Amino acid sequence: MSRTVRAYAITAEAVARERERVGGDLENMDISRVIELDKLDLPDVGPNAVHMRILAASAEHNIAHAATADTVNIAEARGGRMFPGNSALGEVLEVGPAVTDFKAGDIVITHCNGDPDEFGFPKRIWAYDQPESIGWYGEESVVGDWQLISAPLDCGLNLWEIAALPLRAPTAYHMWRRALGIYRLKVPVERQAVLNVMGFGGGVSELFLQLAKSEGHNAFFCSGSPERREALEKFGIVGIDQKRFNRFAGNDDVKAFRKHVSQLTNGADMHIVCDMLRGPVFPAGLAVAAREGVNTSAGWQLSQVVEYNSTLMSVKQVTLDHTHYETIYGCHAATELYGKVFRPTVHKEIYSFEDLPRAFHEMYQNTQTGIPIIRITDDMPDSVKGLI
Ligand SMILES: NC(=O)c1ccc[n+]([C@@H]2O[C@H](COP(=O)([O-])OP(=O)(O)OC[C@H]3O[C@@H](n4cnc5c(N)ncnc54)[C@H](OP(=O)(O)O)[C@@H]3O)[C@@H](O)[C@H]2O)c1
Repeated sequence: MSRTVRAYAITAEAVARERERVGGDLENMDISRVIELDKLDLPDVGPNAVHMRILAASAEHNIAHAATADTVNIAEARGGRMFPGNSALGEVLEVGPAVTDFKAGDIVITHCNGDPDEFGFPKRIWAYDQPESIGWYGEESVVGDWQLISAPLDCGLNLWEIAALPLRAPTAYHMWRRALGIYRLKVPVERQAVLNVMGFGGGVSELFLQLAKSEGHNAFFCSGSPERREALEKFGIVGIDQKRFNRFAGNDDVKAFRKHVSQLTNGADMHIVCDMLRGPVFPAGLAVAAREGVNTSAGWQLSQVVEYNSTLMSVKQVTLDHTHYETIYGCHAATELYGKVFRPTVHKEIYSFEDLPRAFHEMYQNTQTGIPIIRITDDMPDSVKGLI
């Protein structure tokens, strides 16, 4: 029997209204005015489907892309209304007759690989550009069982930390294994065991660096947030204050950064750089690339287009790699590392369901001290109460 639940939606109309209010100046957009509480009719639970209620979700940047329409106007492309949310932790309420991996009462997390290609990489992302896909910023959902992974409740993380990882951890996991594999094609481990690895501010980069550190490499976190740098320093990841270099506003800032990194690494520079931001961060990342280095990205928060000196990159044997999200197998593997390697920094406020739009606006304004988590329900099942 179908059910109607409360869920957040983004409409093309709300995007247009807010864009008009700020005269097209995207930086001044108030995302909380674009994400609106709506009603969603859940489909019946088919043979391979799982009906779950959402317990917690992390805020993800694709909402900012959807709400500002900075890359594509995805709400318009999805027929004028979309139900976003592609990272969640939930409790199974009911399963279809063909589902064998889950049962009512199980706690699960989601992945957002919406349409794997022949090698498993996503052609489309769930609750973003995958047609008909309904996201998880709502009270309940009906999803295919292939979209779920058992939540590792005994991994040592608390509930909010587990909820921080379903989207960011697989992204970091894929970027790390790809970047390392590319570097190793050029420089085998017997020629150089320990690498210098740097990430620019952000949750994916933090997890990327935790992977590097767990495998014995030197890790550096270049961020403007003292709280986030401090959180990583507890794991032996060295902080670099990005604001000391004016977030690379000019050539002199990049030069000063280059000099600082050279001193920090005894002239070796960075063998692997994770850059989810692009914009001014991109030339800074390339400037500190070691010979044979790899610069990897799955994001374009500050700009979609980059420019580089092809000759110089050829001479230095530097590789630029572009990734997106993990394969489904990779998402399962990344989940095995929760608590063992991945220990996310969570923002100090856990937002309520009603405050979800504000959580997104604050993320857009970059005022949070860690990954933002939204508690979707007050009524938590007994199985997770000890993790709160
Ligand atoms: N393709 C994928 O599968 C995938 C998955 C996850 C994320 N992403 C993309 O990757 C990007 C980062 O996501 P995330 O989840 O890692 O980020 P996050 O945890 O939300 O953090 C965003 C970071 O952006 C940095 N930032 C904001 N404004 C900046 C500016 N003007 N200059 C320099 N840095 C700035 C901040 O670093 P400071 O600490 O320096 O302030 C902040 O920590 C987003 O664009 C997201 O869409 C892609």
